[in-house]
Amino acid sequence: MRRTTTRSGRERTGGERAALEAAYEECRRLVRATRPTEHALMALMPPSAQPVCWALYAAFGHADDLLDRSEEAPDERGRGLREWRAALEADLASGTSDDPIRLALTDAVWHWGLDLADLLAALDAVQRDDDRESVATWREWRERAHAQNVSWPEQLMRMLVRSGLPVPVRLRDLPGFTRFVEGLFLTDMLRDLPEDLDGGHVWLPTEVLDRFHVTPADLLSRRWTPAVQQLIAHLVGEARTWLESSRRALRATLPLGPAIVLDTTVDLFGAELDAILRAGPAVLRRQVRVPGHTRLRILGPARARAAVVWRLTLPQAATAPARTRTVDRTDGPLAEGPADPGLLTTTRITDPPLPPRPHRDGARPPEIAPAHLPHHVAIVMDGNGRWATRNGLPRDEGHRAGAVALRDVVQGALEIGLAHLTVYAFSTENWKRSPDEVSKLFAIMRAELLDGELLDHDVRLRWIGSPDGLPDDVVDVLRSQEHATRNRTGLTLNVCVNYGGRAELARAGASLARAALAGEVDPARVSEQLFAAHLPHHALPDVDLLWRTSGELRVSNFLPWHAHYAELHFTDQAWPDVDRQDLWHALETYTQRKRRKGGRVAE
Ligand code: IPE
Ligand code: IPE
Ligand code: MG
Repeated sequence: MRRTTTRSGRERTGGERAALEAAYEECRRLVRATRPTEHALMALMPPSAQPVCWALYAAFGHADDLLDRSEEAPDERGRGLREWRAALEADLASGTSDDPIRLALTDAVWHWGLDLADLLAALDAVQRDDDRESVATWREWRERAHAQNVSWPEQLMRMLVRSGLPVPVRLRDLPGFTRFVEGLFLTDMLRDLPEDLDGGHVWLPTEVLDRFHVTPADLLSRRWTPAVQQLIAHLVGEARTWLESSRRALRATLPLGPAIVLDTTVDLFGAELDAILRAGPAVLRRQVRVPGHTRLRILGPARARAAVVWRLTLPQAATAPARTRTVDRTDGPLAEGPADPGLLTTTRITDPPLPPRPHRDGARPPEIAPAHLPHHVAIVMDGNGRWATRNGLPRDEGHRAGAVALRDVVQGALEIGLAHLTVYAFSTENWKRSPDEVSKLFAIMRAELLDGELLDHDVRLRWIGSPDGLPDDVVDVLRSQEHATRNRTGLTLNVCVNYGGRAELARAGASLARAALAGEVDPARVSEQLFAAHLPHHALPDVDLLWRTSGELRVSNFLPWHAHYAELHFTDQAWPDVDRQDLWHALETYTQRKRRKGGRVAE
């Protein structure tokens, strides 16, 4: 474990480090003892994420246990959890705790910048359970499932994003995710039936009990009637259908690493459902377990695949950045001026922006006098597809890895003080690719702009390209993030999405022609300056250095106007293999160039 500083940034003492490790270990022990299936699934996560999984899961498990203590008097019930939650809040504020679960959770929260309010709300949802006797309808049951179970997987995703993996964070917005949670929750409920019945609870919706003519008393007295048997078979079928349908829906959007965890979860929970069905009346009396050889058959290959995928797609041993404060655009300092009514996405940007994240090996930028730096660098980020194929991965994993490379290059640009960086993310010619690749590319781009680290730093985003044909949600996020970052003063990052150089020139031509027809422009006076003023992005400065990766020696319709006199730089490595040091190297070679621009070389 690499967490060596306290919340206030002080180096931990040896004793504190040991206590923290013991706290995480305690969480792990708890999860392993009470939920072996979940524990095994957590082992499929990247090693850096596992302690966070244990802490989150142990906390929710502990909250549940506090409620289940049936020995307490009815008016005392829930008191234990209320007290524990209050202590947790105090610990989170102070950054430490004398209770192992709360210590691990506190560390995970501040260290990875988890969403505290959201986590506490999920704990409150667990608490609310205590106030009710039963659940009437499936609808009510679903709300309960979501309120308690959506937050913590989202926190894990947030943590992975902070480790450098561009995964979607708002899982609740992904088609199929809430179904997935319901499938897990129902399986869990069937598995925990004996324990809940011991506590006198029947949490299944009254609506489904009625449908099968089963009363809570039948279940509480453990009567294995044909009606109970049919009810259980029906519920097992429902859980299975929900898990399988959500697997199909989610597979399309999740990157390979999380997809392996998803697949294995559905397989293991499916095996639990098989075991529940086979157990017959025992399902009411004792917790059913999946046979060891079945678990091994499912987990063995998954472990091997997960290890390879994380190694390839996770950029580093996941050291965490400092905690960030996010400000909602609608209430933060950037909300000045009228809110743009066309923006649907509520964007959150970090305010004030974080300083650049250091290079993973501590590399520092070369000393280049600001006057010798190019003002504007443009990059054709090429070779994602070939990188993926070479590594035995689908193409979209190449695009994800490419997004991670861009993060690092942007950090390098910030560190060295570059003014403008323009990157080619999607060309008008890229529509020729398969609809599947195109839609995955857009999904990655969108997630990156919403949840990636780029906009945590002093980056002003500009979108260059046409909205024609782009999905609305992509246009929306590009515009929202442009708007949210418009007052930043650091690096201007221009992303070319649905950009074509000739189309841009044609638009300038059309604009000039319209102006001439309207009598605003005299055709005889059309100069380069006037033409440039009619370009869609007339404020974009000329490109000084144009860099293309992956060995292709062409410009592919990129910035024909602005890069007319650019110095060219071609490198062989695929874009996902690039990091900020390659940018710095490109800048150094630029300083060696003699830029004549048609004139004489200065002696
Ligand atoms: C560049 O990588 C990224 C985009 C065009 C979006 P490619 O996808 O072109 O990768 P290769 O050229 O096929 O290897
Ligand atoms: C150029 O790369 C476009 C982007 C990097 C977005 P391509 O891979 O699409 O270009 P060609 O097909 O090799 O010219
Ligand atoms: Mg290419």
